[in-house]
Amino acid sequence: MLLEHVLGVPRAWLLAHDTDPLDPAACRRFEHLARLRRDGHPMAYLVGRREFMGHDFEVTPDVLIPRPETELLVETARECLRHRPRAAVLDLGTGSGAIAVSLALALPAAAVRATDASAAALAVARRNAERLGARVAFSQGDWYDALEPGQRFDLIVSNPPYVAAGDPHLSRGDLRFEPSAALTDGGDGLAALRAIIAGAPRWLAPGGSLWLEHGWDQAAAVRAGLAAAGFSGVASRRDLAGTERISGGSL
Ligand SMILES: C[S@@+](CC[C@H](N)C(=O)[O-])C[C@H]1O[C@@H](n2cnc3c(N)ncnc32)[C@H](O)[C@@H]1O
Repeated sequence: MLLEHVLGVPRAWLLAHDTDPLDPAACRRFEHLARLRRDGHPMAYLVGRREFMGHDFEVTPDVLIPRPETELLVETARECLRHRPRAAVLDLGTGSGAIAVSLALALPAAAVRATDASAAALAVARRNAERLGARVAFSQGDWYDALEPGQRFDLIVSNPPYVAAGDPHLSRGDLRFEPSAALTDGGDGLAALRAIIAGAPRWLAPGGSLWLEHGWDQAAAVRAGLAAAGFSGVASRRDLAGTERISGGSL
């Protein structure tokens, strides 16, 4: 993959040219990337790309690398909106734009809004929307502060930071290289989820829904938070590994 990236060629080309000499600049670039990979840098950051929902997203160290588990949130959102193609949708904490852009591409008549606290992440998300031809309106701010008063959404989705501060996973694998603000709320892991749930009733249209991605052990807490905030039909859905990975409900 690194050699494909350095030379800008597909794998089939490499196989067909396996005895061609590498030019010295390409060789140096490959060796540099291979060293970073050996040091644990995520492949997605080294090649600057990650596939999500069948689309090729640019990723940089300013954004979380989109995870396959998050596709469950996008699929659930699509089901939720199957009779409302013109719905107003909000993605809070959009990162690379993976969720918002995938939804905008699947539902071209929907009005998709996406926010993030990070200007650097929003720059990546904007480039992804433009390159993939998705119509998404972006804005920066702390959760709902990025919105104009009076707006209403039929669906709010979010994959917020939900790892507790001090969780040993933060110092392992790819997570070591991802933005800390994308991973942890700096507290018990439920702070961002609580803030999003608490604010949602003000921004949802009557009958609107909220769906959230969360950690493997947070489903019961998120369901309780949703019920306490007045949501009905509260439920969780499991990912392919059988883990309760997303929870949501409707007003
Ligand atoms: C787990 S990442 C999710 C990124 C993307 N939605 C995805 O699923 O790949 C969480 C995102 O929330 C953003 N974020 C963290 N705290 C925030 C806040 N207080 N307000 C808005 N966005 C925030 C981070 O910058 C990050 O992009």
